[in-house]
Amino acid sequence: MNQDALKKQAAEAALDYVDGGVIGVGTGSTVNHFIDALAKIKGRIEGVVSSSEASTERLKRHAIPVLDLNAAGELSVYIDGADESNALLQLIKGGGGALTREKIIAAASRTFVCIADESKLVKALGAFPLPVEVVAMARSYVARELVRLGGTPIWREGYVTDNGNLILDVHHLEILEPLALEQRINNIAGVVTVGIFALRPADILILGSADGPEILKAN
Ligand code: A5P
Repeated sequence: MNQDALKKQAAEAALDYVDGGVIGVGTGSTVNHFIDALAKIKGRIEGVVSSSEASTERLKRHAIPVLDLNAAGELSVYIDGADESNALLQLIKGGGGALTREKIIAAASRTFVCIADESKLVKALGAFPLPVEVVAMARSYVARELVRLGGTPIWREGYVTDNGNLILDVHHLEILEPLALEQRINNIAGVVTVGIFALRPADILILGSADGPEILKAN
């Protein structure tokens, strides 16, 4: 099975976690498969809070109601992909640039179900360049601070997030303590969001594999 088929397999398995109400939906190629699958059971939910303009557009094409998080209250479940996960279901996210809204929706959801192909499960986070969303005027300052932490930040030139900010992709960071590094980078002035999801990791990870979907749980 190719990687896309494994993503689709994980996405379709996530339908088991959809149980009415308003749900959160993330961003990316794996989530696109989930949105397409969700369309077939859309009558079972009230609507969706979306983490990006791209996902909103796809949801609307399927006539799935897209709601404002401020009006939705706590979400029962959030379904989203990841760029990397470790065995504790701490993640790197933001390859698609939607990390800020993703982190907000993950925080506002009772259960976070992450969907991915099996290649995303890694021993230690950091081989995937860590996305950091920054306010434009702080770009160089934040980059210097990230160099002090041992990373090599590269500006994602020409890219502006849905929130009007910039992204630095930080290469060569060995993330041995995801929780501590998330807090450390969060505290740099000008950082909007760092793509480490360790303070709020996933609760369930569904991995597409040649043997069928594998379900991993935090603790
Ligand atoms: C979007 O900003 C990311 O966090 C995605 O969840 C992540 O990049 C996974 O994308 P794919 O599903 O396309 O691999």
